[in-house]
This record gives sequence, C-alpha cells and structure tokens, in this order.
Amino acid sequence: MTTTLHRGLAPAETADALPRRRDLIDLDGWTPDELQALVNRAAYLREALAEPTRRFDALRGLLVVTLFYENSTRTRVSFELAARRMGADVASVAAASSSVTKGESLRDTVETLQALGANILVVRSSQSGAPDVIARHIRGAVVNAGDGWRGHPTQALLDLFTMQRHLGALAGRRIVILGDILHSRVARSNLWSLTAMGAEVVLCAPPTLMAPDIAAAYTTRPIPGTGERRRVIVEPRIEAALEGADVVMALRLQRERQQAGLLPSLREYTRRYGLTTERLALANPGALVLHPGPMNEGVEIDPAVAHGAASHVEEQVSNGVATRMAALEMIGRALAVEAR
Ligand code: CP
Repeated sequence: MTTTLHRGLAPAETADALPRRRDLIDLDGWTPDELQALVNRAAYLREALAEPTRRFDALRGLLVVTLFYENSTRTRVSFELAARRMGADVASVAAASSSVTKGESLRDTVETLQALGANILVVRSSQSGAPDVIARHIRGAVVNAGDGWRGHPTQALLDLFTMQRHLGALAGRRIVILGDILHSRVARSNLWSLTAMGAEVVLCAPPTLMAPDIAAAYTTRPIPGTGERRRVIVEPRIEAALEGADVVMALRLQRERQQAGLLPSLREYTRRYGLTTERLALANPGALVLHPGPMNEGVEIDPAVAHGAASHVEEQVSNGVATRMAALEMIGRALAVEAR
C-alpha cells in the first residue's frame, strides 16, 4: 500500500483493509500500511458523512462507554458522536460524578461497566498506562482517549489524516512540534505515526520542557513493517526549528501538570516560544498550523495565527469524528471475528 491518502477506493475495500486490532492503546506497533488503511477509511467516512441520510451499522448491538477521569471536550464528544454514527449504544461516565468519588477503584469501576454490558471502553486517565491495566481486566475492547503523558493515539490519527488531506504523502516532510513536549501525550503518539510515515519530526521546546532522551526513545525503535529508522531532531532554537517546516503543531502549555520552576515566567515563555505570524513566516509557504486544543491563545499561540489562514485547528476537530468512527469500526470488526 502506498502511504498517501486514497480517495478512489470502494467503500468495502477501505473497511476490509482496516487493521486487525481489537484494542487501541498507542501507535508504537503500527505499520505504515496500518496507519494508511485507518486514514483511508476515515477519508471515506468523512465524505459519506456529508450525505445527511447516510447511516452506518458497523457497531449495531454494541455498547460503547466513555470513561473519563480527566476533563475533555473534543475527544469525548467526538467519540460519542462517532459511536452513535456507527450504530452503537453509548453511555458516558465522568469520574467526577461517578462512584469513583466514593472511593471505587479503577478495576471495580471497569468491571461494573462490563457487567452493564460495555463492549468497548473509551478511557481517559491522568495515569500513564491505565488503559493497559484495564485491557488486562475486561473482556471488552479498550481505546486510549489520552493517558497521562504517554499517548493519545486517536489524536495522532486525526492529525495524520488532516495533514495528508493537504499535503498528500508525508515522506520527507518537516513537521515541527512546538511547546510543552515534556508533558505531551499528543507529541508522543504523533512521533510514532509521523515518523512511521517517513516525516522528519523536529521537537522544539525550552530545555526544561523537553523530555530527556526523547529522540533516542524513538530512533532506537525501527518502524514496524519496514525496519527503517525514525527521524527525530531536537532543536531548542525556535527560528532554526521553523525554517522550512511543512507543518507546525503548537502544543498547549500544560500548567496543570507543571512543577514549580520549569519556566522563568509565562510572559518569558510566550516571548521566546510563542507561535507568532513573524515566526510562522520562517516555515514553507502554505505550511499548516495545527494545535490539538484546547488552546491557550496568547501563550503558546498568537490569536492571529490560531485563527489565521494557515490554521487547520477547526478541521482537526471535525476530522476527529470520521477518524474515531474508523477506529471504532476497526475494533467492532475485530470483536465480531472473536465472537464467531
Ligand atoms: N485534544 C484533546 O484531547 O482535547 P480534549 O481535552 O478537549 O479532549
């Protein structure tokens, strides 16, 4: 399979090509072909969603439960929309208004949801690795909707889809991830997928917000399916990082996860690392600006950039529905095979 977006495939082909995976914990083991197949399916579903009467039933008879231990707007709503569009029943649990506040453990909570018939559990947690623990304790499937600093795989898939819609193949493209790398699960999942698709990923952050040895953590893990080396560059100088970029992904400064002393001041951070119109001009003409949201406008990104012509932030959000439909469909197909 070529690693660029296919638009001409018949619907049945894009569904049949979906990866054979029954959980979605992170993208570290995904091959370029698997990533492309998921994105191709998302592209088909995005176009199909434009037909208002179009209905899908890949998840008919299944119960999808969203279990969120951290706040969310985009991910939670788009998973719930995606599951409904695929014909599933949907229930949502916000930990803050559940029996978790009475001391119920993670294990008891997920076993309770399983007893209520959950087939697919979509989990967000502040604890890195929580989805892996859950996957060991339930019969149903688990989707990681963001765990601690570790991963946010469906965000990375929708980012890949958005980039390919505008740039085509990402091989040889320079993609800059700018900002609070240390605390970013979005950066970590994107590193798996973007490097697998042949992009060069440049990480730019002040030294205190750069994860130690992050480049080595990726470049020592070859791309599954091809064995090629991943290309990751750490460049703390923002002007040098942005020079020749095809995509600039600004990250939210995660103040809720920060320890004291990581930054001299918010104003200084913005002055040195904020994405402004002047800095964006260093990137290639037509470079895409992305941000996973929620944005701290005026901190990591200037409002003129966040809402300017290069910004694809709103499109990322809307692409999230089709991408999550494709991911849930992949899992629904795997569960159907298991049930045979
Ligand atoms: N990008 C993202 O995860 O946003 P939410 O926290 O709103 O879900």
